[in-house]
Amino acid sequence: MKFLGKHSSIQEVMALIAKVAPFKTTCLITGESGTGKELVARTIHQQSKRKNKNFVTINCGAIPEQLLESELFGYVKGSFTGATTDKKGLFEEAHGGTIFLDEIGEMSLALQSKLLRVLQESEIRKVGGVAPIQIDVRVLSATLKDLSAEVAKKTFREDLYYRLNVMSLHLPALRERKEDIPELVQHFLDKYKKTEKTPQVDALVLRKFQQYQWPGNIRELENTIERAVVLSNQDDRIELEHLPENFRKKIEEHETQLPMQDENLSIKQRVMALEIELIKKALLRTSGNRTHAAKILEISHRALLYKLKEYELSDFP
Ligand SMILES: Nc1ncnc2c1ncn2[C@@H]1O[C@H](COP(=O)(O)OP(=O)(O)O)[C@@H](O)[C@H]1O
Ligand SMILES: [Mg+2]
Repeated sequence: MKFLGKHSSIQEVMALIAKVAPFKTTCLITGESGTGKELVARTIHQQSKRKNKNFVTINCGAIPEQLLESELFGYVKGSFTGATTDKKGLFEEAHGGTIFLDEIGEMSLALQSKLLRVLQESEIRKVGGVAPIQIDVRVLSATLKDLSAEVAKKTFREDLYYRLNVMSLHLPALRERKEDIPELVQHFLDKYKKTEKTPQVDALVLRKFQQYQWPGNIRELENTIERAVVLSNQDDRIELEHLPENFRKKIEEHETQLPMQDENLSIKQRVMALEIELIKKALLRTSGNRTHAAKILEISHRALLYKLKEYELSDFP
């Protein structure tokens, strides 16, 4: 498992991870879905003295409140119908190691108080149990919500917020660090390649990757590459046709929503933008064939080459 990224924001996160990892400090990891929050938590665990003990994760948003409590803290036999034996909770499983509480913002206020007590006392109480159990667990949590806003709305306990957020790590959206895309693409190509040979990504596809907004961030990029590798042919070239329909539609929308419609620009700029678009479309239609594209555009071959140079499109597509 590698934590990749050269963008300054990622380099900062990596430096913070290295600093905070050796201590028991709680960290709150924020960022949109798929930006690498869980990977950061695992990396912190891996870089700590706890690495040989368990790293336990739970998604607090995916489980009903009552179940979440018994998942976290366990229960004693007879505490409710169906509790036929004692059960260990995840905090006990994580003893000596790390627990990662994902989507912490979804936790109910009642459970928040119980969690706060665990953090303060380093002991848990099983559901239906009386005797506290001592535990030594490092708590990392993540959220895509703005927890300080939840605190202001009183849906998240302020005291717990400060306990969880001794160190905060923020992961940027992928669209804010597009320069990392090529390295990530290469990494996922290697991860999902079908043979020894790593597939190649068409230059045009790579350019589309840079234009796309990646609402699902790195997870979406990873899934897109995995799918494209599966669909690619024997020559292992990934082309536009191997990308999801939805992706291609979004890119097209992006491409049709162009500066030529932007009324803040001058007529000259808008005409230029339109010309660039028409040239690009013609070249895409002809898979880059200049002669053929010039015919479609009804300009001379020479004029086309001149414009390509002027617009820095000489190696398009
Ligand atoms: N910086 C990174 N370098 C390499 N892979 C990454 C990076 N960030 C995320 N990933 C990968 O992207 C996927 C989604 O990351 P994850 O940590 O589950 O995101 P989140 O918890 O924020 O939703 C995982 O497969 C993870 O390994
Ligand atoms: Mg996650």
